[in-house]
Amino acid sequence: MSGGVEKILQKDFLSKNDIISLIDLDPHGSEKLFEKALNVKLATVGNRIYFRGLIEFSNRCDKNCYYCGIRSHNTRYTRYQLEDTEVIEAALYAFHNRFSSIVIQSGENRSANFISSVERLLREIHRLTHNSLKITLSLGEQSAETYRRWFQAGAHRYLLRIETSNRALYRRLHPGDKLHDFDSRLQALQTLRETGYQTGTGVMIGLPFQTAGDLAEDILFFRSSDIDMVGMGPYIEHAETPLFRFRETLLPLSERLELSLKMVAILRLIMPDINIAATTAMQTVDPRGRERALLAGANVMMPNLTPLRYRQSYLLYNDKTGTSDDAEESKEAMEACAVGSGHVIGYGEHGDSRHYIERSSENNQRLGGQ
Ligand code: 5AD
Ligand code: SF4
Repeated sequence: MSGGVEKILQKDFLSKNDIISLIDLDPHGSEKLFEKALNVKLATVGNRIYFRGLIEFSNRCDKNCYYCGIRSHNTRYTRYQLEDTEVIEAALYAFHNRFSSIVIQSGENRSANFISSVERLLREIHRLTHNSLKITLSLGEQSAETYRRWFQAGAHRYLLRIETSNRALYRRLHPGDKLHDFDSRLQALQTLRETGYQTGTGVMIGLPFQTAGDLAEDILFFRSSDIDMVGMGPYIEHAETPLFRFRETLLPLSERLELSLKMVAILRLIMPDINIAATTAMQTVDPRGRERALLAGANVMMPNLTPLRYRQSYLLYNDKTGTSDDAEESKEAMEACAVGSGHVIGYGEHGDSRHYIERSSENNQRLGGQ
């Protein structure tokens, strides 16, 4: 297999079978893949790592995804929404520490109140930081009108993971109702792009019933949707979820991490100019998870700025890491990890997806030429 890996890594265009061969690599072959992906990253987007300060705004969620700890049927967690002042304080922390970007994340909530509180916060954060922060939203599926309102209020980027690009697998991971419809999710991603957001998506890796072919299709899905940013990581079982009963069928966690790192590396080869996150789930499995992701091609990290008293209520999966590190500790740990692996933090830089910048300027040129 190792001889084969070199041949595949020299190709300009990877087929589905090539991708499957890379996903199946043994540890020796993986090292070569990671090395190549790191070189491609350094040559394309450079050695800068961009911080996105993560604000876990609310754990209220109308949905019931079978894998997620904060699904609405789980009554164990106290439901919260941060006070406006707490969100502003976290945003100001990012601003004063020159992170230049924040992510506002929550469960899915389509109430009029929620929609207007996000809109109000966006305007307030921009006012207080002189429009200097780039803001990513990760607030689930919403109507085109809501996406437009938030965009107009100053959100620049949006993350909506497809979770898996396999429709049949998606169906096994979610209730079969209108709220959890695969086509609606695809449509939402399309709407986000049309609204003008830098659009991000992602998948979970090592899910029950998931095959190497499914993961290869996920990569092809990112390519065909021309996505700007990706966040993905290992699936980690949560005891209070329906999917927990399949835990015996899963790969060991360490192998789910290896698979995730290979996915990052393959994606970096195929989409060299996008932003790829080193995710919390990777770090949860291995204390070197994030660092290894940077060395396999990731270039974004998300220090957690959520006030500590809420962290135990935002447990998407078992043993989630970093729940006792405050903003300062989270920032320091990530800085050490990035610098220790030969990177530089892009303080004061927005770190927009190069892919997005290029596709926007191509669009402008096309329109200008008409
Ligand atoms: N393991 C790993 N990731 C999970 N997510 C939700 N539950 C889990 C889990 N058990 C991820 C989903 C979701 C994001 C907010 O968290 O991909 O989009
Ligand atoms: Fe809600 Fe997202 Fe969890 Fe699904 S994955 S239950 S939408 S928070």
